[in-house]
Amino acid sequence: MGISSTAFQKCINPDCGAEFDCGQALFKCPSCGQLLDAQYNWDKIKVPGKLSDFAGSWANRTNPLDFSGVWRFRELLNFCDDKYKVTIGEGQTILQQNDAVAEYVDVKPGRLYLQYEGLNPSGSFKDNGMTAAFSHAKMVGAGSCACASTGNTSASVALYAHSCGLKATVFIGSGRIAFGKLSQGIEYGAQTIQILGDFDDCMRQVQDVCSRLGLYLLNSLNPFRLEGQKTIMYRILEGLGWDVPDWIVVPGGNLGNSSAFGKAFDELKQLGLIKRIPRMAIINATGADTLTDLVNNKKLTWNNGKVDQKIIDNYYTDLTACNFSPHTCASAIEISRPVNLKKCLRAIDICNGIVRAVTDEEILDAKAIIGKYGLGCEPASAATIAGLRNLRAEGIIDKNERVACVLTGHPLKDPNVTVNYHKEKQGKFSNPPIEAPNDIDEIIKLIH
Ligand code: F0G
Repeated sequence: MGISSTAFQKCINPDCGAEFDCGQALFKCPSCGQLLDAQYNWDKIKVPGKLSDFAGSWANRTNPLDFSGVWRFRELLNFCDDKYKVTIGEGQTILQQNDAVAEYVDVKPGRLYLQYEGLNPSGSFKDNGMTAAFSHAKMVGAGSCACASTGNTSASVALYAHSCGLKATVFIGSGRIAFGKLSQGIEYGAQTIQILGDFDDCMRQVQDVCSRLGLYLLNSLNPFRLEGQKTIMYRILEGLGWDVPDWIVVPGGNLGNSSAFGKAFDELKQLGLIKRIPRMAIINATGADTLTDLVNNKKLTWNNGKVDQKIIDNYYTDLTACNFSPHTCASAIEISRPVNLKKCLRAIDICNGIVRAVTDEEILDAKAIIGKYGLGCEPASAATIAGLRNLRAEGIIDKNERVACVLTGHPLKDPNVTVNYHKEKQGKFSNPPIEAPNDIDEIIKLIH
């Protein structure tokens, strides 16, 4: 059966609802300008009867598509023929139960899980999305691609682009991305354009550049990217023996992950593969807290797709009027105009979600704890643990509930933040290096 009869793109605006073939590279609805989803005619797709059936693919891991932690769930993102699929072994990530971090956040032993997406080939969760989006790019015959980025998207785009022979141009805000990420994009061979502005400026520019030059856009506006990111949730379920946790906690930046996770659970429930949907907590940094402000203070909701656009327009007009630019040590989520805002509101609706913001100090302390007792992560990822700690203190998440936090990026992405925290004794958990004379007795005294 041809893919065209099983998958299509659909505008999320219920007043429009326009549908398009998956063979088109669109990124926004041509009729009304809203976001597009990948949708499936599920009755035409052979989906396993139960989630545990997916475990069978793992036995066949000499097949690259079964080895991939994304494509071994391919029946649940069935928009493209196998011949177009691009994989570099993404998605071999770990769900770690961590009692020491659980103690820090006041969750009962055995109840906290950390999903380490930093273990992907480019060191962040982005590879889950890129394997899917680059497969779509191959399917539509794209030759050149582009993205705007706070760093991880550009690293992942650069890696996949050279793996499958596309030319890549990445837009970054000058001085706004961590060194590890900048080094990756350059090393992997992407043309890197540093704009004198922030991520939101880059995002505006890249959309114009892509439509003028016909480049394939790889930001999370791309609905196929989010299809790949759904698999992070499948792997959490897999790590829990196909049980559903009580809470998923995720950092919020451009809001692609939270949007994808809500869609993943909605589809699994509709397919009868899960009985209940976990709640989701989305954590902003206080210096980039558009979602928190809009949801908690301006009471913006999904409202069955009829989102109050006036609230968003007024909010963005105010940001422009005061020349606002977001600032946080978690540079990955330093975003004030998240492109997936409406899909994220839908995910909040699906998952009975909540939104909070955490300070840089809370992020850095949480990061030090994840480093000391776990495998470590970059600052944005640590917003999850900082947020969870506050939600426990508020009593919104119970001590007994089972919580999975998505640690989105590797600790080596941003070594400057880590070294400054420890060396400059910036926080409660700083572990500064000790200066020592080049003398054995003095050194031994220090160790004692
Ligand atoms: N964590 C990390 C490590 C990220 O790199 C990002 C986003 C996020 C969280 C936020 O995820 O956008 O799905 O809400 N990084 C993008 C980039 C924006 O360009 O690398 P989101």
